[in-house]
Amino acid sequence: MRPVFVIIDRMSKKNPCTLHYAGKETEASVMASTPSAPLRLVKTHGAPSDWTNMLIAGDNLGVLKTLIAGKEAGRVVNADGTPGVRLVYIDPPFSTRLVYRGTDGRHAYDDRRRGAEFVEFLRHRLILLREVMSADASIYAHLDWKTSHYVKVVMDEVFGPDNFLNEIVWSYGGRGAKAASAQFPRNHDAILLYARRPRVFNKQRREVSLPKDSPCIQQDAYGRWFKTAPRGDYTDASIASLEEAGRVHRTRSGRLRVKYFLREAEGRVIEEKLIGDVWDDVPDAMHIKASEKTGYPTQKPVALLERVIKASSNPGDLVLDAFCGSGTTLAAASALDRRWIGIDIGSLAIKTAQKRIKAGMKSNGTPGFAVYRAGKQT
Ligand SMILES: C[S@@+](CC[C@H](N)C(=O)[O-])C[C@H]1O[C@@H](n2cnc3c(N)ncnc32)[C@H](O)[C@@H]1O
Repeated sequence: MRPVFVIIDRMSKKNPCTLHYAGKETEASVMASTPSAPLRLVKTHGAPSDWTNMLIAGDNLGVLKTLIAGKEAGRVVNADGTPGVRLVYIDPPFSTRLVYRGTDGRHAYDDRRRGAEFVEFLRHRLILLREVMSADASIYAHLDWKTSHYVKVVMDEVFGPDNFLNEIVWSYGGRGAKAASAQFPRNHDAILLYARRPRVFNKQRREVSLPKDSPCIQQDAYGRWFKTAPRGDYTDASIASLEEAGRVHRTRSGRLRVKYFLREAEGRVIEEKLIGDVWDDVPDAMHIKASEKTGYPTQKPVALLERVIKASSNPGDLVLDAFCGSGTTLAAASALDRRWIGIDIGSLAIKTAQKRIKAGMKSNGTPGFAVYRAGKQT
């Protein structure tokens, strides 16, 4: 069988590899040949304000072209006046070859695109997404082990390899689909993060609770709990100022270590850990509380989207999910006081997202939104 993809090493510093496959259009041709899809207002939920969140039913390709024009006209805008969306999260079909249904048996979507057809489908969207983004925006592409490597090469082409920041491993736990067969169980997704500079990035931390007899913590003469770490790259001058702040610890053998103070709560010691690129503390949607479950087949947990949104946007920033499904990103963005735009081609997705966000408006007082249908592409 003929290989579908070839990775060519061009030895260029800017972009060392490009992915070649049959039917790959140039970026210029993608931009020029994609028609925009006019948006027809279907319904508004909630009172009008200076910005109305948008849930759009239709193929994201034409909708993205329309949003580019909206950005240029200053309508697709963050609360601070910056045009374009500040954060994109996409969780597209993963080329699983499956047909997905809701828990009530209703058809959600087909995921049948394979090989080069799948990559080119996504590449067209990535090119348009780049144009909808603000100059300081971030994009997270949620993928799995089967496709992430192809999409990584394509994202290097579209966003530039220097703007690749992280491959986040979402290790969602469980036994994995292949637990019983002769291989390691598969229980992670890959989320690729690209952003230009300057960008919004808020470090995320999580609290870890330690028993007081944990061997990795100590108490000083004032009763303060602390952990230590090697001095690492600290210069002598930095060590001197840490010493003044009471943050230098000497071991019995005289080695110097840096102290990190910890909080005490309810009889335990709390450590604030910096979140790295392996996220193993967010269980998958099967293990979320019943009130969060929508019945949509590939729903992601709100906790995952909260982390993405908190890290790469600030209140008032505009968040776009171009494959929004049950509206997880939109619900999380609403609760975190961000503006949002969600797009999905499936009617079950739009119904589910609509119901979910309306429920949020009722229970948490989150802002209203308008539902649009993307018309015939022009
Ligand atoms: C993996 S699901 C997203 C799930 C979502 N993250 C959630 O938490 O519910 C992928 C979604 O992409 C949508 N989709 C597929 N092709 C699309 C297209 N061309 N335009 C817009 N949405 C599309 C599907 O209908 C499906 O809802």
